Amino acid sequence: METREHIYLDNAASSWPKPESVIRAVELTLREAAANPGRSGHSLSVEAARIISDARSEAAAFFGVADPLRIVFTKNATESLNIVINGLLRPGDHVITSRMEHNSVMRPLNAARERGISISSVRCSRTGELDPDDVRKAVTKDTRLVVLTHASNVTGTIMPVAEVGAITRGEGIPFCVDAAQSAGCLPIDVDAMNIDLLAFTGHKALYGPQGTGGLFIRGGLEAEISPLVMGGTGSASEHEEQPLFMPDKYESGTPNTAGIAGLLEGGRFVSSQGIASIRDHEMALASVLLEGLDGIPGVRVHGPAEPEKRIPVVSFTVDGMDASEVAYRLDDGCGIMVRPGLHCAPSAHRTLGTFPGGTVRFGFGFFNTAEQVRTALEAVSSIVNKP
Ligand code: ALA
Repeated sequence: METREHIYLDNAASSWPKPESVIRAVELTLREAAANPGRSGHSLSVEAARIISDARSEAAAFFGVADPLRIVFTKNATESLNIVINGLLRPGDHVITSRMEHNSVMRPLNAARERGISISSVRCSRTGELDPDDVRKAVTKDTRLVVLTHASNVTGTIMPVAEVGAITRGEGIPFCVDAAQSAGCLPIDVDAMNIDLLAFTGHKALYGPQGTGGLFIRGGLEAEISPLVMGGTGSASEHEEQPLFMPDKYESGTPNTAGIAGLLEGGRFVSSQGIASIRDHEMALASVLLEGLDGIPGVRVHGPAEPEKRIPVVSFTVDGMDASEVAYRLDDGCGIMVRPGLHCAPSAHRTLGTFPGGTVRFGFGFFNTAEQVRTALEAVSSIVNKP
């Protein structure tokens, strides 16, 4: 691996570096507690089960969930969204979503269409903003689910989740929130925001390892959601049918214990720093970047002008230059790592008017510095001025 200094500004794809406590927890688990949790009953198995249980409690507390058993561990937000979309919807059902969604929502939804499920994709503005009233207007007697991203992975636009939650609660429709970008980055309280299903990933703003994530399922909804995967759970082994209780119904097969140990420490790291303080730091950096990019002729920033309407994700295009060319030159010439293209969210790019070329995306994290933003701005400026 090369040793030159990197400026990592791709935290929206995966946060890096990870806190030392996360790295230590993964290593310690692999060294000292990597037995099978909930299976064998010996002391190492019990220790592995304790790690999972602590992580479940941490995740529950993080999202204002009173009962930790309502949290299911999955390998990522995509798997969680697939559990909801594939497990809940039946032929004849109608789903409402937005035009800012990631393919983790759009692909399973479009596959569901083949099974006789209809979809309303609510329009958003050119900055990716959603009017909750448009969700209300899209409700029909068959609406069985509203699924919405909490924050766009392309522009960082924060969606009016609590307002939409108030509508779905009033209509008695389950509300699923894709918190892939927001978990750890914005405060989330599933009761206050009327969220019934919360899909989150561990490896972004929760600073955990890749391959970790989860799903909150509100009490009672598990009776209506089929599992995606069935198999051994270490519980009710006398039965050859899948257990129906939480979280076992959705947690078949040996889990990623070392990864979940890292996720636990990632959650503790965010809690100890405080979401508000991390957000202040990241948004200060994003604001400097937004202002700086605005002053470079030929650069166009997408998404809301007001930083407070975003998470720390900034997408831009350069007139007459491919997004991938800009990203390549940032990396090759300056060691600056960003993500160009469509970010697995073609619908969002159509909304912004940046399809099919896409954008160059910066995503900030806790470990980024003001100096890195200054360097990034100089780099963009020099690329634009020397095409
Ligand atoms: N969904 C991730 C991103 O936005 C991978 O880059």
